[in-house]
Amino acid sequence: MRLPVYMDNHATTAVDPRVLEAMLPYFTEHYGNAASRNHVFGWRAEQAADAARAQVAQAIGASPAEIVFTSGATESDNLMLKGAAHYYRDKGDGIVTLTTEHKAVLDTVHALEGEGFRVTIVPVQSDGLVDLEQLAEAIDDRTIVVSVMWANNEIGTLQPMPEIGKLVKAKGALFAVDAAQAVGKVQVNVNEAQVDLLAISGHKIYGPKGVGALYVRRKPKVRLVPLQDGGGHEKGLRSGTIDVPGVVGLAPRVHSPRSSDPPRRRGSRRCVRFCMNASRPVSTASM
Ligand SMILES: Cc1ncc(COP(=O)(O)O)c(C=O)c1O
Repeated sequence: MRLPVYMDNHATTAVDPRVLEAMLPYFTEHYGNAASRNHVFGWRAEQAADAARAQVAQAIGASPAEIVFTSGATESDNLMLKGAAHYYRDKGDGIVTLTTEHKAVLDTVHALEGEGFRVTIVPVQSDGLVDLEQLAEAIDDRTIVVSVMWANNEIGTLQPMPEIGKLVKAKGALFAVDAAQAVGKVQVNVNEAQVDLLAISGHKIYGPKGVGALYVRRKPKVRLVPLQDGGGHEKGLRSGTIDVPGVVGLAPRVHSPRSSDPPRRRGSRRCVRFCMNASRPVSTASM
């Protein structure tokens, strides 16, 4: 029998069975609303969401208060770009990004262009990397935000993030990063790269679809106008009940392997369920 072979992990990945196992109790046993403050069901759900938030934050060098849970990188990209453009519209009107960005960024900046924002889309070189001088020329003192993806979803280019961050901050703009294909795969540190806003997706890293996160820098504080109104969840930036099983499934695979990490022994008891090497493709046969 000829079976199809899946070779499209940049589009999406299978949920790691260990991730699924961690998620299941939050559908059926601990199904409380994390915003229910007056009973144990809510407290348990909140504890799980807080633990997931801490894991995501730690993976990218952030603090838990800087993590906003969303429905995925598309929503995070929309929130960071529209949110920043709308909040800072009195200070400027410019938005700069690259031709190779995902449509979640390109369509968002085009929507902002329709509202009157000035959008500059910088081309990349034949190797997929942006020319830093060309990028610098595109940023002026009315630029609000510069959006550059960390890792490209089609050609795998890793942009020189610390250099871009330095350049963007020297120009006084916000640095927004779509890291949907980077978090969990390569080292991502928001401080080393001077990132202000960073989008994460769960289903690119063996987590569930429909869940993601947005990093929003607090020092100095970056402000956003939320996309939706409602109960004021996620510090007012993303109203809507937290998908607790989803965020429990997002968190385990956000950590990228560090070169200093000792090689993991297969089946080692010391490797707890959440301590999984994200660079290693998951196959059910090896579980
Ligand atoms: C670079 C990049 N950004 C954004 C997205 C959208 O992510 P999500 O499916 O979580 O909305 C994807 C995935 O298609 C992606 O590869």
